[in-house]
Amino acid sequence: MEPSYEPSNNVPAPQKIAMTWWDDQAEEYLAEHPSLGEVKFQWGPEGWTEEDLHLLPHKPGRILEVGAGAAQCSRWLASKGHEVVATDISPGMLAVARALNAKHDLDFPLIAAGIEALPFNNDSFDTVFTSFGALSFLPTLTPAFDEVFRVLRPGGTWIYSVTHPFSWVFPDSPHQDDLTVIRPYGKREAYVETTGGTTEYAEFPHTFSDHVNGLVQSGFDVTDLFEPDWPAGKTETWGAWGPDRGAMLPGTLIVTAQKPARS
Ligand SMILES: C[S@@+](CC[C@H](N)C(=O)[O-])C[C@H]1O[C@@H](n2cnc3c(N)ncnc32)[C@H](O)[C@@H]1O
Repeated sequence: MEPSYEPSNNVPAPQKIAMTWWDDQAEEYLAEHPSLGEVKFQWGPEGWTEEDLHLLPHKPGRILEVGAGAAQCSRWLASKGHEVVATDISPGMLAVARALNAKHDLDFPLIAAGIEALPFNNDSFDTVFTSFGALSFLPTLTPAFDEVFRVLRPGGTWIYSVTHPFSWVFPDSPHQDDLTVIRPYGKREAYVETTGGTTEYAEFPHTFSDHVNGLVQSGFDVTDLFEPDWPAGKTETWGAWGPDRGAMLPGTLIVTAQKPARS
């Protein structure tokens, strides 16, 4: 049965939906998106890597990845000698991560945990990051931001990439003809895929103000908002990301925030 796509403001148990979906997708996800690589830190479908952008702190210290999926970003960091811990809500994704760690002879903790309940002490990491993990599967950002704030040491950095807030108003298509607003920006209706009455996938739009105000309310200082360009000459598409839309609008937002140092 083909799934139907519909907006919804009523999504029960979003974490369970995310975990089930990603467990089911675990084997296929990297195969479907080979550009992610196995030991590679890519910030989004534009293809910009940490090697290109240098967004992490120069000395990132002890690093936590949340929503790590198959942990290719953490593997890249581990390959450079950084101390890293990778977490994800999906045990299936972490099983793929474990197999790839063995394949590449890299070893770091892979821990099953949702971003909203991290099994770590207060102030235990210098840097927390995610590349497109966790946040868009949560109806509200505050529980995640509060939890990241708790596990970061004072002065630590939280950096994440997400689907650009503008993207949610357009159809899920990379083509120029589909650059027509079909959903109201401020309504925050979840993007839901349902098969036979069962919700199989749900992503939740967050506006710019949800990000910035949410971070500030959790205690962060927002230090950078970055909207990467579509790379010149890149023709490969990924969902709604592609050269047509990329020429007009950013598809990805990368946010950097600091937990204030104790005075
Ligand atoms: C688009 S994948 C990104 C994975 C990886 N960062 C990458 O770029 O391939 C999203 C990941 O977020 C994870 N996820 C979804 N909801 C989560 C939550 N509440 N807490 C932690 N991880 C979550 C999923 O299991 C999935 O592995």
